[in-house]
Amino acid sequence: MFDVLGGRFLRVLGIETSCDDTGAAVYDSERGLLSHRLASQIETHEPYGGVVPELAARDHIRLLMPLVGAVLDESGGRYVDGIAYTIGPGLAGALLVGASVSRALAYAWGVPAAGIHHMEGHLLAPMLEKPRPEFPFLALLVSGGHSLLVDVQEIGRYRLLGATRDDAVGEAFDKTAKLLGLSYPGGPAIAEAARRGDPQRFRFPRPMADHPSLDFSFSGLKTYVRNTVESMELNDRNIADVAWAFQDAAIDILVIKCMRALELNHHERLVVAGGVGANLELRKRLGMLAKARGFRLYFPRPEFCTDNGAMIAYAGWIRLAGKQRDGLGFSATPRWPLTDLPPIG
Ligand code: KG4
Ligand code: ZN
Repeated sequence: MFDVLGGRFLRVLGIETSCDDTGAAVYDSERGLLSHRLASQIETHEPYGGVVPELAARDHIRLLMPLVGAVLDESGGRYVDGIAYTIGPGLAGALLVGASVSRALAYAWGVPAAGIHHMEGHLLAPMLEKPRPEFPFLALLVSGGHSLLVDVQEIGRYRLLGATRDDAVGEAFDKTAKLLGLSYPGGPAIAEAARRGDPQRFRFPRPMADHPSLDFSFSGLKTYVRNTVESMELNDRNIADVAWAFQDAAIDILVIKCMRALELNHHERLVVAGGVGANLELRKRLGMLAKARGFRLYFPRPEFCTDNGAMIAYAGWIRLAGKQRDGLGFSATPRWPLTDLPPIG
């Protein structure tokens, strides 16, 4: 399967610029991940309490080339056999920075390049860990823009089982953090505040948890948080208690839908990826259920749950080895269903 270019296909440079993290990595098909780096833009966006698309694109321009130089140096050789870059979904301006730098490098170096679906990158990130999940599996993809339950038969054969009907779960974490006056990005800030919360004080609703479909809804929970917050003083204790109750409800919704999907589709393996997959409480609760119910659970390490170049390098290696070749022309694809991807080979 991986015999391309008339020979062995080894090293791929991966570039991620879909949102507010600039990521680069080099993946080697024989030696695994050789190097990876991430440049955070937290300082740029923090004063605004969220990502400012134009500033994100400018930061990618500033940060990307030094990062590429660093990962190439650290990989032990300034050569690659191909380049992979996130082409969508994401912020158009941000995507175009990664795409144009990648296409230019590929042209200059005379190597192929492939545009990668950001969520396929997240989906395949657990493949960078050991043990790797075998196909087929159920995937819970939870990020700032997506909450998806996907039946994964093999690479490129994805069946959507459930999705959010309103906010993504990461978005709900971010908006709740803002309501509580916590710092950006919201997910880690909520998780940190929740550690000091009193589990007995509030119980927030779990919208659609009893609904037979595998779809999610988080906007009602967010509204409930807003109403609660507006009726109280924002002191440390209240913030911690609300953070705990919100996190508890959000995780409960995810866990309930995962259990239902595992049962309905007779999956024995659950893969969780995307930024919210870094949440320790979610990892703990699913871990306990995996033991009790006898399914296998796979997560990328927390730093590969959130956006990174390593997952794009890996997905790129798979796609390039599967003979995906994109022409010199390109356009960003801000909206792009995962199920539109072709199988490989
Ligand atoms: O995958 P990701 O880095 O970017 C997107 O593709 O959107 O996910 C970012 C999302 C943000 O909403 C962030 O608040 C959330 O993941 N997140 C977390 C945690 N770390 C990041 N949510 C809950 N707990 C965390 N520890
Ligand atoms: Zn992401």
